[in-house]
Amino acid sequence: MKVVETATPPKTYVSTAARHRLVVPGGGTEPIGHRIIEIPEDPFRTANRDPHSPFLAYVPPGSITKGEALVKTGGSGKTIQCAICHGDELKGLGEVPRIAGLQPVYIARQLICIQNGSSAGTAAALMKKVVSNLSEDDIIAISAYLGSLPPQ
Ligand code: HEC
Repeated sequence: MKVVETATPPKTYVSTAARHRLVVPGGGTEPIGHRIIEIPEDPFRTANRDPHSPFLAYVPPGSITKGEALVKTGGSGKTIQCAICHGDELKGLGEVPRIAGLQPVYIARQLICIQNGSSAGTAAALMKKVVSNLSEDDIIAISAYLGSLPPQ
């Protein structure tokens, strides 16, 4: 996963055949808005199921620094320092899963599912207070920062 901050990512579309986003053949860029856009760096390698073929995640400018502050400090009470439960390097601690180096869209989806209650197992209860005050932009920032870290 390579996380790239930009206000103007390439124009993309969701390919139903590939089941992920791809760059529009005509080229061009578009405003990122409040989005994370993930595309394979090399669509040919990804299409051929090369497990080492990286994905690029485009995120809004400033996301990584903002996310780092929320993750490391809790943002003055907005959330809770993640390392307390996920371990010093966020690579997991006991039963608590690793969160460093995952795909930003995956992280955002998990946080949104915990926030809206569709992920509500016993273990997810520990995450309730972590996500309750996070805005969509906070979630994008946290996902950008975690995605930029080296994986386990
Ligand atoms: C009080 C402990 C605690 C704190 C603090 C905490 N987490 Fe968690 N987190 C958990 C537990 C436990 C789970 C597993 C939930 C489950 O299995 O349903 C989890 C799951 C997650 C997941 C889903 C991982 C996956 O692969 O499904 C993400 C993403 C996550 N946490 C991010 C964060 C972030 C970001 C922070 C800091 C802003 C944070 N957590 C702080 C306990 C915590």
